[in-house]
Amino acid sequence: MQFDLSLLQPKEQVSFGLRALYEAAGCRKYHMGQFEEYALYQENQAFLPSRQVITFTDLDGRLLALKPDVTLSIAKSAQPAPGQTRRFYYSENVYRPSADSHTFKEIAQMGLEFIGQVDPEQTGQAVALAARSMSLLAEVMGRPWRLEVGHMGWLQAMLQALDIPAAARGGILAALQAKNSHGLSAAAQAAGCGPQQIQALQELLELHGPAGQVLPGLRRACRTQAMQDAAAQLEALAVRLADAGPSLWLDLTLSGEMEYYNGLIFQGYLWGVARPVLRGGRYDPLVRKFTPKAQAVGFAVYLDELDHPAAPPPAGGCEEAAPWLNIALPKGRLGDKVYQLLARSGCLSPEDYNATRKLVVEDPAARVRCFLVKPSDVAIYVEHGAADLGIVGKDCLEEAAPDVYELLDTGLGRCRMCVAAPAGYQEDPGRPLRVATKFPRIAQEHYARLGRDIQIIRLNGSIELAPILGLSDVIVDIVETGATLRENGLEVQEAFLPISARVIANRSSYQFKGAAVRGLLARLRETLSRPKEETL
Ligand code: PRP
Repeated sequence: MQFDLSLLQPKEQVSFGLRALYEAAGCRKYHMGQFEEYALYQENQAFLPSRQVITFTDLDGRLLALKPDVTLSIAKSAQPAPGQTRRFYYSENVYRPSADSHTFKEIAQMGLEFIGQVDPEQTGQAVALAARSMSLLAEVMGRPWRLEVGHMGWLQAMLQALDIPAAARGGILAALQAKNSHGLSAAAQAAGCGPQQIQALQELLELHGPAGQVLPGLRRACRTQAMQDAAAQLEALAVRLADAGPSLWLDLTLSGEMEYYNGLIFQGYLWGVARPVLRGGRYDPLVRKFTPKAQAVGFAVYLDELDHPAAPPPAGGCEEAAPWLNIALPKGRLGDKVYQLLARSGCLSPEDYNATRKLVVEDPAARVRCFLVKPSDVAIYVEHGAADLGIVGKDCLEEAAPDVYELLDTGLGRCRMCVAAPAGYQEDPGRPLRVATKFPRIAQEHYARLGRDIQIIRLNGSIELAPILGLSDVIVDIVETGATLRENGLEVQEAFLPISARVIANRSSYQFKGAAVRGLLARLRETLSRPKEETL
């Protein structure tokens, strides 16, 4: 009996195609049940994307979990003999918390793992299978793809060679990962780095682009033998994947959780799909918890990301010379300043956007389309790919912690996140502090750093009223001019986070519309560097 595979959903077609690909590559299907001993996840929390796991007690009293991950179970049960390489693939559902819906989500995931003796040849095979997986996804979905490859070993060796203190590395990696040049300098300065170290860190941000373009700079940046070895591995990979052409990029700022990946690391993007559809890398530290001296490389394909793609690109594909850029702007106080910045940069007509109720403003000449949304929604639009770029206060970014690039600090809307209280307020350390705020996460993290037990009262506005009416002891809120505090008899007790408007980008948009994004950033930087009256 013949089946017409085109009748299946794209996700199902991809699933069949990948299965055939992995079987042909000599991988065995790994099947696991829905449940796993909770202890496995408890003991290996550092390797999981979230500490939150659904647990229940089985009939025999064992604490079980609905599996949040498949790799851990495969790493545990693979047990390769010395010199043996076990090659698995899987197609399973995992259960993870969703920050968007505040519930657990069932996620369809396929993946591939090589465990045991994994030499550079086998690592190369795994990355080549990742590239072929991406090519298959792209074919079914009818859109361009990109595989970005980095190297955790190279990056770690660089931080070592630059003598970056161990305690500062997490913050520096996070800034690199977010392509956050201003945050990178700030984190390096806070760690006591000098101008040369900061310059060397900033140069890492340049190591991103088509493999052929990045390799010369990568070679020049090597400072140790370990770095040269890692660069040679990337070079060999570029030769091996020459067929991928412009779809293979290197990004030396790519980093995963420090404890998870130790060598090659990679992620795949599809045009118009907001988040990476494939992630993987070399993860020896994890597999060695179960089999000493073993090595491992693998990747996961996130099939659910294929459910809601944007329309495919117009003819000309991702290399279209001037794609439209969709930008989410914050309504309100900051919105006025940001709109003016875009207008002065020649990206929008200088109409008064407050005079219109239009939520979408277009400038066809500049190929820019702006959406006006609530400030706290800007990052949501960008993270989900409904906007390529956004301009948003650092307060909203810290509060929502979206997975986006943070490309520019505009310096607009400067203010501070503060703890404020009625004048003369004396804290009673004998009871939990009641904190009213629009920013529960920021407040929670601030007091956690101080080791102070607090009770958060979440409000949506007019926060200054809370201590006046006895609803809270203090507030955590933004202070710009200080007028609202003064006029309500409150004063700043502590300022702990400088805030200004940042330009953020969707990770996938940055891959496929990178030239247009960088062009817009250059115009914004140029406008910001000139006195205001010159640009009116
Ligand atoms: C913000 C903030 C303060 C005020 C501070 O409120 O929450 O209330 O601005 O500014 P100032 O130091 O210049 O007085 P916003 O205007 O966003 O309104 P909200 O109270 O509704 O949140």
